[in-house]
Amino acid sequence: MEDRRTVIKAALGVGLGAVLPEVTLAQADPRNARPQDGDRFVITEGDRKGAVVKLDDLKTGAPPITVMPQDPANGTVRDGSRLNQILMVRIDEARLKDDTKARAAQGVVAYSAVCTHTGCDGLSWASDKLWFKCPCHETEFDAADSARVVNGPAPRRLPALPLKIVEGYVVAAGAFIGRAGVTAP
Ligand code: FES
Repeated sequence: MEDRRTVIKAALGVGLGAVLPEVTLAQADPRNARPQDGDRFVITEGDRKGAVVKLDDLKTGAPPITVMPQDPANGTVRDGSRLNQILMVRIDEARLKDDTKARAAQGVVAYSAVCTHTGCDGLSWASDKLWFKCPCHETEFDAADSARVVNGPAPRRLPALPLKIVEGYVVAAGAFIGRAGVTAP
């Protein structure tokens, strides 16, 4: 029995050892944590840089904005990782596929802004097709259909971020669906 306890303790020790560094890292710097349920968003560029995103800021048909998540409890912007860059755009709900509509908030959708091919950002926008296009190797992603790959070498869609509206603010309704960046989910 003692031997068995020793083996179990050893196994737990190995397991905790594998988990603790990641937990400790997130606790040490919440800016590195991925977006979480309840996070708000701040604009990262242009005249409105730093503004917290409200539904009224997003007009149907306007180009996407780039945002970062913000912990509403203490105002911490999670800008410690480029993997937290998010593209947010408002689309006519009639054009959204069912899965996308279910994650959207009044037509607003959000996706990781980091291409799943080799990790470029700075994706452009085709407002007629509702596609994002990566500047590096020209993968195109359909924003109305869960950012599926339409053309190009990226191996998978851009991770989607579910949204909700709370007191007029656009708020995360969960985590990324899939891992942001180039690592396979
Ligand atoms: S990094 Fe985006 S298509 Fe290659």
